[in-house]
This record gives sequence, C-alpha cells and structure tokens, in this order.
Amino acid sequence: MSNPSPIKVFITGAANGLAEVREGLADHPEVELVGTAADPAKAGGKLAESAAQVILHGTTATDHVPTAEIEAIRAVTAAPIVLVTTASAHHILSEALQAGIFDVVLLPQLTDSVVFTIKKANSLAAGRSGGAPGKVSQHVEGKVVTVFAPKGGAGKTVLASNLAVVFARKHERRTLLLDLDLQFGDAAIMMGIEPEKTIYDLVMARRELDPDALAGYVTAHQSGVHVLPAPLRPEDAELVTEERLGHLFAVAKESYDVVVVDTPPFFHGPVLSTLDRTDQLLLVASLDVPAIKNIKLTLQTLDLLHYPKERRHLLLNRTGSKVGLRPGEVERALDMKVEFEVPSERDVPVSINRGVPIALANPRAGVVKSLGDIADKLVPMRTAATDDKKKSKRLGR
Ligand SMILES: Nc1ncnc2c1ncn2[C@@H]1O[C@H](COP(=O)(O)OP(=O)(O)O)[C@@H](O)[C@H]1O
Ligand SMILES: [Mg+2]
Repeated sequence: MSNPSPIKVFITGAANGLAEVREGLADHPEVELVGTAADPAKAGGKLAESAAQVILHGTTATDHVPTAEIEAIRAVTAAPIVLVTTASAHHILSEALQAGIFDVVLLPQLTDSVVFTIKKANSLAAGRSGGAPGKVSQHVEGKVVTVFAPKGGAGKTVLASNLAVVFARKHERRTLLLDLDLQFGDAAIMMGIEPEKTIYDLVMARRELDPDALAGYVTAHQSGVHVLPAPLRPEDAELVTEERLGHLFAVAKESYDVVVVDTPPFFHGPVLSTLDRTDQLLLVASLDVPAIKNIKLTLQTLDLLHYPKERRHLLLNRTGSKVGLRPGEVERALDMKVEFEVPSERDVPVSINRGVPIALANPRAGVVKSLGDIADKLVPMRTAATDDKKKSKRLGR
C-alpha cells in the first residue's frame, strides 16, 4: 500500500528536541508539514483545514498523558496522534494506548525512525477509514454513469440529479454528481445548493489533484450526494480541458462508488473524454419524432466511436402522455430495446422550483421508483463482493 504523495503532518505542543524533529521532517520527501501550533486548543480551525493525516504532539509532561490537549486535537480531527516526548517520560507509554494515542516517540530519535512511525500511523488510519471519501486505500474503482440526450429539455439534469440522490440515500453509495454541462449547467440549482467552488476552481488550481484536494471542491448535499458544479460563467467552460478531466475522473473513481455525470446536449471534447470513462451510458429520449431522430444520430456516432453496445441504455422520459409515440414504435425506429421508462409527473417541476430533488422530497413518487430500478440495474448492489465487505465495515460488523 504505497502512498506516492507525502504524508501531511501537523505538529502541536512542545517538547525538548521537537524543534529538531520539525527541521528534520521539513526536509523529508515523504512528509509534508502542513502546520504547527504550540497550543492545540487554539489550533482548531487551522488544524481542521490542514487535512493533516498524522498529528505529532509534543509534551513536556513526564508522568501523565496530556489528556486535555489530546481531546482538543480529537475535537477537530480523527487523524492518528503520535505523542512526542523525552526519554525521561517513558512511563507515559502504558497510559498512551488507553488515551487513544497511536504511538509514543521518545526523543532523541533519528528523523527516519520518526518518519517510520508517521508512515505506520498513516497506513493504519487509511485502512481504518474505509468509508470516508478522500481517505481510501483498498477500494474498488467507482462506476461512472453518464446521462446524455442530444436535445435540451429531455430531462438529463432531472434524471442525473435524482439518480445521484437514489445512489446516495437508498444504496448508501458514496456518490458524486458531476455537472459537465459546462456552459449552462444547472445541477446545483436543481439540488438547491449554492456552491462555493465549481469545477472551474478545480481545474485552475495549481495543486495536484488527489482525493483530499477533490474533497475541497465538492459541495455536500443533505442527501449525502457530493456535487461538483459547472463553472458559474459560461466563458470559463473552455478552461476545462480533456486532460484535466481525465485526471479528475481517475481521482473521483478512487474516492466515490458512483460518479453520475450530467451533460450538455452535444458531443464536444469533454463529453467525448467522459464517454471513454463511462461504464454505463443512459440515453434519454422523449416520445416525439425529432427526439428519436436525434437519438438515432447519437447511436450512429457511438458506433463510429466504437462505444460498446452493452453499455448503452435507452430511457424514455415522460411516458404516459397520450400524444407521444409508443415505446414499441421507438424500439422499431431505433432497433434498440427500451430499457427504462420514467413517467411524467407534476411533482417534478414543483420540486425543481423548490430546489429539493424529488427523490428526497417524495421518495414514493413514480419517477423515483423508476430511478430506483435504474440504479439497481446500472450499478447492482451485489456485483462486487467487496461492496458487502465495505458495508459491513461501515456498520462496524
Ligand atoms: N419525468 C418528468 N416529469 C415531469 N417533468 C419532467 C420530467 N423530466 C423532465 N421534466 C421537465 O423537463 C424540464 C427539462 O428537464 P431538464 O432535466 O432540465 O432537461 P435537460 O437537462 O435535458 O435539458 C424540467 O424543467 C422538468 O420540469
Ligand atoms: Mg440540463
């Protein structure tokens, strides 16, 4: 389980020889010092924001574990704590484990041996954290579900955002909703969130993208879905290059079980590179002749791109109206099976205007039931045995 990026270490407290340890770590390639604070009680926000993976806490106490200080650290981070003290404090050792301290380093110590303890603490914590996005170690790659329609107004955003809610709430999957309708994306609005950051901030950042960094750009929705919205200004769309996007997908698949992608109604660069990484493609058609004609053209494009047939799924949205085509007619015209049907429901526009996804507001709605079936089929709960393992880990079994 090698970790290519340096381990983020935050140093708190004071101890004889701690300054030397800090100097040694500052130059060490396997460690990144993300902050220091003499008094952990005052370090709160700084410590929480540092995304530290290991805390080194120095203490001058020789006969007891500094419980109040340890609690102050615990209040803001779950990162493992390594207590640093001098050799004269060796009888702290037995107490330390009970206080939930990962290890005690008695100074003086070679930098390499301090780094070894830090690495041990970090790899243990990584194995332990299982479910938390951003701190994943052995994780099956997440699945990418892309919702596409060659026409605006087909229901892509309604379906993508509610499907994401179903994955997160009903299936308890770690779910990312990624809005790649880069110019006119409205996934954030439909989810009713006001994001501070968007994919624009992410692609403009200098820092290399990793699960921790990604976690800093997403907005958590009350359903559990994490949302990475489209840029706020249409002109920023072109800055989202295919290369950046490729990297984003790689990291997102590491952090999430399911990545649901909303798209614009055309095949441009970002959509093409998304297709390359799409495990399940949901093609949304409405029951009118122009929509079906455009789906037909889309299927031809997918053939040219050699996009596998078994990954394409045809969905008819807003069925049930009397004026539309019948599913059988659509199947004949497209020479493709209609796999899913989603009814037209008045609650959908109502929920959009309220900014609450219908899957959250009204889980019993017909639309939501259909989406449940779609979620089951596209990313089955029991395909990977690891899913069950992961779940039982989360439940503490
Ligand atoms: N199943 C449905 N029932 C009722 N209205 C729907 C349904 N699906 C979509 N709509 C309506 O269609 C409109 C367009 O949907 P949207 O998801 O924004 O389309 P797209 O993202 O493809 O442009 C929405 O405002 C919504 O009110
Ligand atoms: Mg849309």
